[in-house]
Amino acid sequence: MKKYLDKLPLQLKRIIRQAQAASVSLGMPAYLVGGSVRDLILGVKHFDLDMTVEGDGLFFARQMAKRLSAGLVIHERFKTATLMLPGDLKLDIATTRRESYPQPAALPQVSPGGLPDDLARRDFTINTLAVNINPGQDHQIIDLFGGQKDLAAGRIRILHALSFQDDPTRILRALRFSCRFGFRIETATLGLLKKAVKQGCLACVNPHRLRDELILLLKENEPFKPLRELSRLGALSCLHPKLKVSRGTQTLFRLAKQQLDWFAKNFPRRRALDRWLVYFALLLAPLSRAQIKRVIDRLSLRKGEVKRLLGYYRQRSKIIYVLSRKEVTADKIFSLVEPLSYEAVILLKTTVKNKYLQKHLLEFFAVYNGMRLCVGGHDLGCLGVLPGPRYQKILAKVLKAKLNGQVNGRRAELVLIKKLAAEK
Ligand code: CTP
Repeated sequence: MKKYLDKLPLQLKRIIRQAQAASVSLGMPAYLVGGSVRDLILGVKHFDLDMTVEGDGLFFARQMAKRLSAGLVIHERFKTATLMLPGDLKLDIATTRRESYPQPAALPQVSPGGLPDDLARRDFTINTLAVNINPGQDHQIIDLFGGQKDLAAGRIRILHALSFQDDPTRILRALRFSCRFGFRIETATLGLLKKAVKQGCLACVNPHRLRDELILLLKENEPFKPLRELSRLGALSCLHPKLKVSRGTQTLFRLAKQQLDWFAKNFPRRRALDRWLVYFALLLAPLSRAQIKRVIDRLSLRKGEVKRLLGYYRQRSKIIYVLSRKEVTADKIFSLVEPLSYEAVILLKTTVKNKYLQKHLLEFFAVYNGMRLCVGGHDLGCLGVLPGPRYQKILAKVLKAKLNGQVNGRRAELVLIKKLAAEK
């Protein structure tokens, strides 16, 4: 394993050195584990670090947070912690544990356990590899379930026959990893996966867990592939019985990717988009508004996400109607599009071909979005206009004039507010 560790970027090496020091001073053996060992061996460029500690993982995490001056989020129930490091890097630290499932699809009951227990509770063999990072250890890979062989063969394999019943989100995970790495789901595993889908196991999962796993899938580089596989297996019915993906969905996903990349490249200073939300809306596109609302409610998406999605569905027809015309004033474009989220605008650009609408939305992003006045309340106050509805009306009129190119710069805006303020 040393050859892989030596190749790590400096920041990761520094984190591992600090973990070694913490491990020695606290007398708690620490391991690199799961996805990070898998990704290290596969030569993946950017990945988060997962560590597991024999002892008190939370105490270890607090020490590490101090050593690395990192932000810390503790998940008390599962005795896990996440350290937020510069460069959007995350370090997950857990206590080695045993898990048992009181009933299928329920949250696992967690009890103390050693490293072998901790590896045995995991989803797929390729995620069961560990490396003892303590100094004096030879950094040999600990491989209790044949993970290295499966990794080399490109194979997704579960550890025991009830794995998908215990945790049906592994159905999504199997397809996600299989599509991400181009791995094959091993025959017996695929048989058990299909059986679990047929038994409707996904319908029993807590909707929050289903949501989180679905979001992870939609965040993949190419989310369409695992969705298509889920659809073929009939597994999307856990979201809605009528939900299926088609050729049309595939085309929309491809167009959305182009739009999202275009936005990221051309507007790097604007907010980074939640790409998964765009794909989620496209996935739900074949459903009616009422059906979509039911899916959104069931998954209990976060408030901001619901607001962005519902805003899009609510305004979509009106915006298409108005912006598909050749001549639309800038202030009209602004008043319709500015209240929408960027994700909604990208959805419109993705799903509507009309050339005028495309042009108006491009103008919106390039020119009108976020347009502010150079004059403000203070200037109106100097002119003797008291705060109130008239105040807002005057500023709205100046903004309209600015959007439509009738005033340009603070001086021209001042002339206009003077004129408007003088009107009775
Ligand atoms: N895990 C599991 N069953 C789950 C979720 C997670 O067994 N339902 C285990 C796996 O061993 C996994 C580890 O917990 O490797 C960490 O979970 P997560 O961060 O979701 O997975 P990664 O393998 O790190 O995947 P990714 O590269 O997508 O972050």
